[in-house]
Amino acid sequence: MIAKPYDFLVIGSGCAGLEFALDAAQHGTVAIITKKNKAESNTNYAQGGIASVISSDDSFDQHIEDTLIAGAGLCNPDAVDLIVREGPGIIRELIGRGAEFTSNNGMLDLAREGGHGRNRIIHARDATGREIEMTLLRAVEDNNNITMLEHHFAIEVITEHHLGRDVTRHTENKHCFGAYVLDTNTGRVETILARATLLATGGAGRVYLHTTNPEIATGDGIAMAYRAKARVANMEFIQFHPTTLYTPDSDSFLISEAVRGHGGILKNNDGEAFMSSYDDRAELAPRDIVARAIDDQLKKRGDECVFLDVTHLHEKDLKTNFPTIYSTCLEYGIDITRDQIPVVPAAHYICGGVWTDLDGATTIHGLFAAGEVACTGVHGANRLASNSLLEALVFAKRAAASAAVYIKTAELPDTIPDWDDSGTSETEEWILISHNKKELQQVMWDYVGIVRSDLRLERAFRRTRLLYEEVEGYYKRNAVSVPLCQLRNLIAVSYIIIRSAMMRKESRGLHYSTDYPATSTQARNDTVIG
Ligand code: FAD
Ligand code: SIN
Repeated sequence: MIAKPYDFLVIGSGCAGLEFALDAAQHGTVAIITKKNKAESNTNYAQGGIASVISSDDSFDQHIEDTLIAGAGLCNPDAVDLIVREGPGIIRELIGRGAEFTSNNGMLDLAREGGHGRNRIIHARDATGREIEMTLLRAVEDNNNITMLEHHFAIEVITEHHLGRDVTRHTENKHCFGAYVLDTNTGRVETILARATLLATGGAGRVYLHTTNPEIATGDGIAMAYRAKARVANMEFIQFHPTTLYTPDSDSFLISEAVRGHGGILKNNDGEAFMSSYDDRAELAPRDIVARAIDDQLKKRGDECVFLDVTHLHEKDLKTNFPTIYSTCLEYGIDITRDQIPVVPAAHYICGGVWTDLDGATTIHGLFAAGEVACTGVHGANRLASNSLLEALVFAKRAAASAAVYIKTAELPDTIPDWDDSGTSETEEWILISHNKKELQQVMWDYVGIVRSDLRLERAFRRTRLLYEEVEGYYKRNAVSVPLCQLRNLIAVSYIIIRSAMMRKESRGLHYSTDYPATSTQARNDTVIG
């Protein structure tokens, strides 16, 4: 069933999708599709905050330098320059829309996180993402040019391939015309046409067994773009957050980096503070260093977790600044004002993604990408803490401006074929889908984690290939469903991560290989697939 064409189709309702929609709505009609409830996104769980140069003792140059250092030689300096300089404007706009950030005596409170040379993290206590998400959602609800379609799952972006033309990675003039979308309320696949489409589908943390990301983070946008033959880059750089609550049987709850910024100390099971033996910046070293140090402690000592100790900090201060962390830990029987917090690293953020230029355009005309799904060049080989919300908002704005120009001359084909599900039946063998997902996540955790080697990557490659063949088989036989499509996307993203990791014959930033422990002086190139 073909719905009427929109000027802009936005896939995803996190901060990137909402920011783009609000700007694009000044130029035409916008549909936002989102696979669950509209607030469900990585954005909604962001804790620490959003980095920006606000204080008079800070400078753009210092924020740029900190970002480039964390990025380990792979950032695009132009992209970094952009987000840093446009940061204060983004913060002002959020406040103008009604966002309430933590302040003291009328001044924004600026927190500190790893890798930052200054206090520059604007936050809403320890629930910054929720404040941003709710602020943007309120503005979207008030905008008559924007239609929000919840429980709509994008299956594929539509290109010339769906018109029966041969599209390869080398085809120069590929275009996107919208997306095939499964309405999970009705079970029907709709064709949503649009002059410009934004991928704002967020990250892919669910590729791994342990992750801070909610269930939506299955890398759908990266997988769709890859299948549509867009360029994807730097996918080996997976950021593992050093500190998530150690609870073997439940999802990994984040203990914000701001807790270390506040004075939290990492200790091993013998009570030794170990970070200064790994890096002079100790607890405030960038995440890759802290996560690897913890991994080293766990492997060397055979322990299951390390501890984050904040018991020396002021009780009232902890409860005021970290109310979510305090109350969640309490649910697990840990009173952070008295007990050390057991922590382990977990997959947190994907630095690579769908390659874009500085205006959020991908290598497919009419297809834009912003937020965690995109690889803009800002993060290089390792993202600096709290630069993600900033990048998502800045690049969503830029993508909206460039998409508004694009739609003026964009043409849609006269007809687009309906989604073809002939020859398929209702989904069989659910147990195989859930079992294959667990197997994939375990393989990725064991072999493509914080420390990698050629042997582990080859093993992961072989296992993933088998899973790919099985799941492609189901996909051909069965009607589309969200679990099946997500599994297929997780496998595609895992495959790209493994291949990218195999291509990088050095250690840099978040990619550490025991076979190539040194950082090459020559290999300052992006890993490009497609
Ligand atoms: P998201 O916010 O993840 O939104 C993606 C949207 O796409 C969702 O609405 C999802 O449902 C939808 N979607 C996905 N696939 C489909 C599909 N196939 N069809 C339809 N809809 C789809 N960054 C910081 O800078 N500071 C922080 O303090 C911080 N803390 C974090 C804490 C946690 C626990 C986590 C998980 C991340 C944190 N990050 C932080 C990272 C940051 O939150 C994310 O990178 C950022 O919010 C991504 O925004 P986004 O709009 O790109 O994607
Ligand atoms: C955190 O609060 O530690 C997360 C910050 C981030 O991911 O940038």
